[in-house]
Amino acid sequence: MTMAPKPATAADPETKDFSKSRALQPKAHELIPGGSHTYAKGDDQFPEQSPGFMVRGKGCHAWDIDGNEFIEYGMGLRSVTLGHAYQPVIDAASRQMQLGANFSRPAKIEVDLAESMLEVIDGADMVKFAKNGSDVTTAAVKLARAYTGRDLVVICAEQPFFSTDDWFIGTTENNAGIPRAISEMTLKFRYNDLESLREIFNQHPAQIACVLFEAEAMTPPAPGFLQQVKGLCEQEGAILIFDEMITGFRWHLGGAQKFHGVTPHLSTFGKAMGNGFAIAALMGQREIMKLGGIDHDQPRVFLLSTTHGAETHALAASIETIRIYREQNVVEHLWRQGERLQELVNRSAAENRLQGYFEVLGRPCNLVYATRDQDRNPSQAFRTLFLQQLIRRGVIAPSFVVSFSHSDADLDQTAEAVYEAHRVYRQALDEGIEKYLSGRPVKPVNRRLN
Ligand SMILES: Cc1ncc(COP(=O)(O)O)c(C=O)c1O
Repeated sequence: MTMAPKPATAADPETKDFSKSRALQPKAHELIPGGSHTYAKGDDQFPEQSPGFMVRGKGCHAWDIDGNEFIEYGMGLRSVTLGHAYQPVIDAASRQMQLGANFSRPAKIEVDLAESMLEVIDGADMVKFAKNGSDVTTAAVKLARAYTGRDLVVICAEQPFFSTDDWFIGTTENNAGIPRAISEMTLKFRYNDLESLREIFNQHPAQIACVLFEAEAMTPPAPGFLQQVKGLCEQEGAILIFDEMITGFRWHLGGAQKFHGVTPHLSTFGKAMGNGFAIAALMGQREIMKLGGIDHDQPRVFLLSTTHGAETHALAASIETIRIYREQNVVEHLWRQGERLQELVNRSAAENRLQGYFEVLGRPCNLVYATRDQDRNPSQAFRTLFLQQLIRRGVIAPSFVVSFSHSDADLDQTAEAVYEAHRVYRQALDEGIEKYLSGRPVKPVNRRLN
């Protein structure tokens, strides 16, 4: 369904000029499978009339290759929590760069960041760094398997992503290239359904190494649920792992584990740790973590040993990011601005009679939205339309996840764009989306075929 762009009106501005982006896209796809290095940023995730390539950012604003300016949400897949090019973090990283990036022995700064992380994540005794969240969740699984001597892993069925590695991707729609034997070692329980987890333990006695999930994603835990999961894991001799990639430094400086008062045996962090610099962490109890060390008499666990895992300027960026989080109440700001944005968007949806069709979901520090069609079924086409209308008005919002740099003025400007996008959404519900959508709809990341 490809259509010519609509003529412009004041409330429905002409689409922006993306000619440089369009010209570069074929080359990007010729050189890079998927045209980008992260599927969630891919062309199939955005409307056709979108910025194809970004060149710079400042705060919550970003500019594309054609010079178009946007207010961004969920910047860098939620990694840029303070703001793009955030000066104190850049200064800390560049000071460290002058001193060298990587040596033959550990850099002192590895111990400094370990101390910073262990000060804020108070249930953990030890920490190991890496570059990607996927690597640390995979390391947590390996460690749990080594510690328990068991093979099976249990994850949460409703939560969409834990790692690019086989033990997880093997359970998704896009599992080509992954042996079934590996996929079959990962089982799924339902969130807020303790019985579904108990059933798995009953069906596989003494075989479950770990239960890994996000303490909270879109739905808050039922009272006592997380405590009961921990109790069940301990009763069954399995390791409880919280994936804090999204919740870490958002729900609370101490993570969702602090927010909900349940300390897992292991937990994994990334994204918010370094304001966009590549840094992730596996954290946990000494008893388990020490298996990755060189001072025990158990079989050795080859735990996170990467050339770039402790690249010094990423560690410096992370130390500075954590310092700013602690000193400037960043988490409070995220919740406050998220709440304000949620109110503005909900008001706009109500004024445009979109209740039941457009819904803001999640905690204020981590807002996403659902789009539904005339029959109230989830709709990628309506998501595309909403994205398209926002982009025309200078807002890129695959989510409504705010950063420390989202000011009231940014939110007000966003609210105006959202109101106009909602107005068009309503018209598309009434008159048919074909008339309003320019180009093909977006697609989910996890799918079997292109
Ligand atoms: C909950 C969760 N866990 C793990 C990961 C993997 O992190 P990374 O992309 O840094 O490998 C992600 C990434 O989006 C995530 O959202």
